[in-house]
Amino acid sequence: MNKIVIAIDGYSACGKSTTAKEVAKALGYTYIDSGAMYRAVTLYFHENHISLTNDKEIAKAIENIEVTFRYDEEAGKNLAYLNGLNVENEIREMYVSENVSQVSRIKAVREALVLQQQKLGKKKGVVMDGRDIGTVVFPNAELKIFMLADLYVRATRRQNELLGKDQMVDLEQVKKNLATRDSIDTTREVGPLKQADDAVVLDTTFMTLEEQVDEVVNLALSKIVKEKETGMGS
Ligand code: DC
Repeated sequence: MNKIVIAIDGYSACGKSTTAKEVAKALGYTYIDSGAMYRAVTLYFHENHISLTNDKEIAKAIENIEVTFRYDEEAGKNLAYLNGLNVENEIREMYVSENVSQVSRIKAVREALVLQQQKLGKKKGVVMDGRDIGTVVFPNAELKIFMLADLYVRATRRQNELLGKDQMVDLEQVKKNLATRDSIDTTREVGPLKQADDAVVLDTTFMTLEEQVDEVVNLALSKIVKEKETGMGS
């Protein structure tokens, strides 16, 4: 069957990664969490005290960073590794969330990660979620989804997710973090969060995860059939 690229962009905590993961499972595709890559770089910068205003230091650090994904049977998903170390849990901690937008606005960081992401999606059959996937990483993706949801709903979902990992965080703190990240992510100069002209908008405020997944899988199946009919897919 023809394989396509599915790009899922949108605001923080709209359910992008949970949806993308399930869509990939349903289609037998690979799920790539591009946000995890920015988070891993943020963790490296934090641990190595990299100054965010020192271009030389940043360039050197980027050369020393390798972010990879390995499938974990037990977790049933790809886990993020930073220079060979499993950092999946650490990169979800609040202190990483609070610094990741500042790191991901750095041009050199984006250039390096976009290249890696493009390599990962070269063979198609991928679902990648992020902020600039449909606009910068895969502008020719066959299916582009732009996800949004009410801020309060997003904050509550994220707070519950963190609670599930025994991280107790105040709702106001989560709300503030999401709003700040949205603002930095949409206004940065390089690769801002922006809806691609040909993206399908999915407002998940009143949707269950199952409904979100069904919607994207159905859109993907229509695209796959269309690609087959036009003989343009790979
Ligand atoms: O998807 P996430 O919330 O885990 O992403 C964390 C941060 O990484 C997000 O606030 C902005 C940045 N990011 C980005 O700039 N570009 C992407 N393609 C993915 C994430």
